[in-house]
Amino acid sequence: MEALKGRDLLSLADLSAAELLFLLKFAAQLKAGEVRPSCPKTLGLLFSKASTRTRVSFSVAMHHLGGQVLDLNASVTQVGRGEPLEDTARVLDRYLDVVAIRTFAQSEVETFADYAKIPVINALTDLEHPCQILADLLTVQESFGQLEGLTLTYLGDGNNITHSLLIGCALVGINLRVATPTGYEPLPEVVTQAKALAGDRSIITLTTDPEAAAKDSQVLYTDVWASMGQEAEADNRIPVFEPYQINKKLLELAAPEAIVLHCLPAHRGEEITHEVMEGAASRIWDQAENRLHTQKAVLAGVLGAI
Ligand code: CP
Ligand code: NVA
Repeated sequence: MEALKGRDLLSLADLSAAELLFLLKFAAQLKAGEVRPSCPKTLGLLFSKASTRTRVSFSVAMHHLGGQVLDLNASVTQVGRGEPLEDTARVLDRYLDVVAIRTFAQSEVETFADYAKIPVINALTDLEHPCQILADLLTVQESFGQLEGLTLTYLGDGNNITHSLLIGCALVGINLRVATPTGYEPLPEVVTQAKALAGDRSIITLTTDPEAAAKDSQVLYTDVWASMGQEAEADNRIPVFEPYQINKKLLELAAPEAIVLHCLPAHRGEEITHEVMEGAASRIWDQAENRLHTQKAVLAGVLGAI
């Protein structure tokens, strides 16, 4: 798809519905070994937060495409010593073909993209995690053979995962229920944006009632109650979020064919029980695998290899 070439992926809303569905289809073809794009280019990983899945899946994806990866951790570059992002972006733009950035403020990936001509991919910010939601949607599609018309329930903190889920579900026509404690709702501007994108295709509901949200839902999804950067609040959040745990009792309220997703890393016994993570409804390991296939599709797309 020529239209993806050279593009940034800073928010899932940077993709049209057709582009998102095309990437999912291409990722499924990559997974099945039906297509083998070649892309001998260089990806830079500029991560200032920890990562297992995103770091490794991007690296392996680029390796499979015939390219190479440079780990540009802030502590081993001048970024860690305060070199301005605007300068770093203009210099790395001259060496790299694509960059994936994991950081705190969304404004940092936006600034980098403003100063670099190469494609910039958001590998997680406090606001969004678009690459994760591409893998999640592929996993849902694999389980149900469709996306439009399904109901997905997200339980827990209204965080970066929630924001990208709001946009992703709106684009593909999944009905989304978000159940959070009062005061932990997703940002109202992202909810408004998602509702505008969804139009009449799907319904987006916010609630504080986890049981009502889980009832007859086909997908239950959760994430940690305290994200990276919120460690100091983690203990205080546990009693507030306890009613939102995905456990056997909550899963019994969902549709009989319901699946369970978690972006990982998980805190067993907090947002999800060990029993549910390891149970028959869990698609968590397929979901983690799908990071590789969907990010390979994104890389091939923005590098013009599709
Ligand atoms: N889900 C996810 O992004 O995992 P990592 O933080 O390990 O990359
Ligand atoms: N919300 C979590 C997601 C981790 C993949 C965080 O930002 O830490």
